[in-house]
Amino acid sequence: MSSGDHTSPQVGVCYFPEHWPRDRWATDAAQMADAGLEVVRLAEFSWSTIEPERGAVSFEWLDEAVETLAAEGLDVVLCTPTATPPKWLVDEHLEILQAEQDGTVRGFGSRRHYCFNSGAYREETERIVDALATHYADNDAVIGWQTDNEYGVHDTIRCYCDDCAAAFREWLAERYGDPETLNEAWGTTFWSQRYGSFAEVDPPRHTPAEHHPSLLLDYARFSHDSVAAYNRLQTGLLRDANDDWFVTHNFMGDFGTLDAHDLSEDLDFPSWDSYPTGFVQDRREGEATPAELRTGDPDEVSLNHDRYGAPFWVMEQQPGDVNWPPYAPQPGEGAMRLWAHQAVAHGGDAVLYFRWRRCRQGQEQYHAGLRRHDGSADRGYHDADHVASEFADLDLEPPERSVALLDAFEHDWALSAHPHAPDFDYWTHARAYYRALRARGVDVDVVPPDADLGGYEAVVAPTLYLADETLADQLASFVENGGHLLVTLRSGVKTPANQLREGLPPGPLTELVGATVARHESLPEQLDTSVTYRGERYDYRTFGEWLTPDAASVEGRHAGGVAEGEPAVVTNDHGAGSVAYCGVWPEAGLADALVTDLLDSAGVAYTDARLPETVRFAARDGHTWVLNFGLEAVTVTAPSDATWTVGGPEVPAVSVGVVDSAPAELSVERD
Ligand code: GAL
Ligand code: ZN
Repeated sequence: MSSGDHTSPQVGVCYFPEHWPRDRWATDAAQMADAGLEVVRLAEFSWSTIEPERGAVSFEWLDEAVETLAAEGLDVVLCTPTATPPKWLVDEHLEILQAEQDGTVRGFGSRRHYCFNSGAYREETERIVDALATHYADNDAVIGWQTDNEYGVHDTIRCYCDDCAAAFREWLAERYGDPETLNEAWGTTFWSQRYGSFAEVDPPRHTPAEHHPSLLLDYARFSHDSVAAYNRLQTGLLRDANDDWFVTHNFMGDFGTLDAHDLSEDLDFPSWDSYPTGFVQDRREGEATPAELRTGDPDEVSLNHDRYGAPFWVMEQQPGDVNWPPYAPQPGEGAMRLWAHQAVAHGGDAVLYFRWRRCRQGQEQYHAGLRRHDGSADRGYHDADHVASEFADLDLEPPERSVALLDAFEHDWALSAHPHAPDFDYWTHARAYYRALRARGVDVDVVPPDADLGGYEAVVAPTLYLADETLADQLASFVENGGHLLVTLRSGVKTPANQLREGLPPGPLTELVGATVARHESLPEQLDTSVTYRGERYDYRTFGEWLTPDAASVEGRHAGGVAEGEPAVVTNDHGAGSVAYCGVWPEAGLADALVTDLLDSAGVAYTDARLPETVRFAARDGHTWVLNFGLEAVTVTAPSDATWTVGGPEVPAVSVGVVDSAPAELSVERD
């Protein structure tokens, strides 16, 4: 979805006019237009400037800012300012504040301090959102809205206050009907946890030992539903005021506690905030390499692009050095341009840099902008200018992919209640397969498990922990109709309430897979973790299953440890398609062997050799982007009739080329 009739991707910026004198605004707007920027996002933290005291609502400054930008032909995306309830509001309604598990109240002084289940805060939200939406309903410069700002940043999806306790009890009553059904579903006989009424159930607050995993899973679902309902309150008010506006929300990268697929159903399209050199330091396993500290982990970023899925916007794009990771290295020269190309190659329609100008006040003084704090251009401004001129020449349809990876938030919530190994992280495991596909130049749609798989040739389904009969039937029909499926360890283990199923894993998937899991172990580094697969020896990590084949044929066995000789990988034919099941967490070599075998079965083309970790291809609408995240140049070999629309076969360090050949026809050499 694009904001208007644009088919070429747009470049924009997030701007805080309220941080600067008014007589500067026209200069800022002119400099934005000069760089070819087209969209400006405003006002996400503006509540106390719009309403400095109760009832004193004035849009005077915001009107002037919108008008100044519009005078330069810039489109405006407004935000609801609800991420930062002002001090007077908090003091009037202390009950809107979030509480932590140990009862500590999250006080005023930063942001995101409100509870999604506070009745008082919902009323205040209605009041301010309605006032804004009504005021701007007929303003042509305002093309759409962002609800709130980054639901969940600073770990704020799950709140444990009294309003949440009351709402949780209602949510449980709705789900289970009567307490006996809940007792049965959860299994509350264990440690004497039976409940006589819903009123007795508390949120998972501070306890001596771990909480009941069924309570944890339902609290995760409830917390997600609370945010979704709060977001719907806002989208409803905005659409009531003007149905032509688009409504989006800026999600985060690698963020698991909110199901973005579900929440996106209430939006016109999703947006997300991309900070590649922050992510590698702050939310990814393993130490960042020197190249990653300059350009990020391309697969980490792309997996988020593909999860939010075309069409999407990058609502905040890293503009330079950022304040919140432990260190703030300057991105590689050209990285801000490279990231924008990466987003567009993966289906993005717009990339907005965060922020226009480094700020002189508040918590984010050490966060770069496109302009330095004295107003002069920084490196990001030149990159934005460059990329805006390149995008103006593109005219793109969304990408079309024949491979999907299933992305199961709820399964992750269940697993996180019982990871059974300190490093069993759902996303790190899923990324092992995503990375293997990307290293072969294969583009991947990242879709929820109940997505229509009809258009795909091959599907990777990592850890379908809660797989039930309905999902098993969908996957079986995908395979019977000629699809090729790779299912992985810890699938079909639990009931929807997070109890072990009666039968052995993979539970409802057993017939499809043609094997059961006899035994499993989680393994620290000092124990043997290798398997042989189709004659080669490979390493695995963290978790291994010993399989008992029934209809399936054994393709891989444990090689070492107590599991020596036990089946670890099996395949099974079904109808016109096939299923492989991998019972270990593969290191890169095994992941590559598994995905290339899957692609061979499905007839999907891939590159002859694995790409260097710092080079990735992404295809959209007949163009292939060669994205070089490395600190050295590379040379691309393409078919002799290939045409380069951006750059050429020599792709410099931290740069990009765009060619009209398919990824599988290309190869790369480091210079
Ligand atoms: C985002 C947030 C912005 C700003 C930015 C800094 O998480 O939405 O408001 O804080 O990070 O990188
Ligand atoms: Zn709460």
